[in-house]
Amino acid sequence: MKNYYILTLFPDMIMNGLNTSITGRAKANGLINFDAVNIRDFTKEKHGHVDDYPYGGGAGMVMQPQPIYDAYRYVEEKSGKPDRVVYVTPQGKVFNQEMAKEFAADDNIVFLCGHYEGVDERILDMIVTDYVSIGDYVLTGGELPAMVMIDSISRMIPGVLNNDVSAQDESFSDGLLEYPQYTRPVEFMGMKVPDVLMSGHHKNIDAWRKEQSLKRTMERRPELLDNKTYSDRAEMIAKLMNMMTEYFNGDPKRIQHFTKVYAYAKNIGVLENIDSDTAFILETAAIVHDIGIKKGEEKYGRCDGKIQEELGPHEAEKILKKCGYSKEVIRRVKYLVGHHHTYSGIDGIDYQILVEADFIVNMYEDNAGIESVKSVLGKIFKTKAGTDMYRQIFGI
Ligand code: ADE
Repeated sequence: MKNYYILTLFPDMIMNGLNTSITGRAKANGLINFDAVNIRDFTKEKHGHVDDYPYGGGAGMVMQPQPIYDAYRYVEEKSGKPDRVVYVTPQGKVFNQEMAKEFAADDNIVFLCGHYEGVDERILDMIVTDYVSIGDYVLTGGELPAMVMIDSISRMIPGVLNNDVSAQDESFSDGLLEYPQYTRPVEFMGMKVPDVLMSGHHKNIDAWRKEQSLKRTMERRPELLDNKTYSDRAEMIAKLMNMMTEYFNGDPKRIQHFTKVYAYAKNIGVLENIDSDTAFILETAAIVHDIGIKKGEEKYGRCDGKIQEELGPHEAEKILKKCGYSKEVIRRVKYLVGHHHTYSGIDGIDYQILVEADFIVNMYEDNAGIESVKSVLGKIFKTKAGTDMYRQIFGI
């Protein structure tokens, strides 16, 4: 059973709201429990005050620490130490679906609702684990935000919604907005339900819905697509690093090598302000750049730069396809893998940075003497970030 305690000056507002509809039913069914704790019940002042003037002057009143502390202690004694104490404030991190999911995994959460101008900082320092806002606008108090969060957390808990599929199949669950929905009648004021939905062909229906989700997200919330691309790519890079580690299983030197080249390439890319599509290509190429070595050793018993360039692209393609990379990214990464030992005809910033990152690592791993370290600087390095990094690493 999940327990949500709300420390508030307006317990009726919370209880009336949450006891209604789905959260009310979930409580009645024993899936969740919520309890509003009236901070005012814990004041030691004879007039029932819970606030006072701010030290240093200024408008408004500040909630005092003692009643909040005692209300919190009451909850702690009743239910044990909570998993988190959320201070509901416009100064917090903005609540989203991911946080709803994360919070839904906790068993005991305390929400502290502020009012007036604020809350004495000392009690916040003492008990609060998370500062959370529901958006960049200011409300009169934290009660509505706490209710918003409890509502959205509760619906992630199995059994709270009648149909658990609907919690997964909706807006934000995969980073996209939900597709349009239709019900009877088939025709309303001349407008018809899309034919595909009545075809009974589930594959086509799924494809249509996915396409509509994408279109809608692109039109209404394009920034969600950027976020999704970012997290999908981070996941692909992590997967690729794992697969390459497996590929070079038992060869720590190669594994350490590509990991270092990846880190330097990524860093130089960020410092040089390259765009996110190029950065993705660069990082991918840095991870797989030496993939031809193993095949070269198998085929020719050695693995010089030219052999790597010959055998690498095909090997890279196989592994990138397994990770779900697109054709365009694979095409460019193959080119980079096939040319990373060729220092004339560098045709892009991804190529340039890959070569620089590889030199930073190779000059150290090959124990190059100071003279060759110096001569490479002028011949190879073009970016400011790469040049600075190289100079500092080798002290030149
Ligand atoms: N209290 C006042 N405004 C708020 C907001 N936007 N989010 C959370 N708590 C608040």
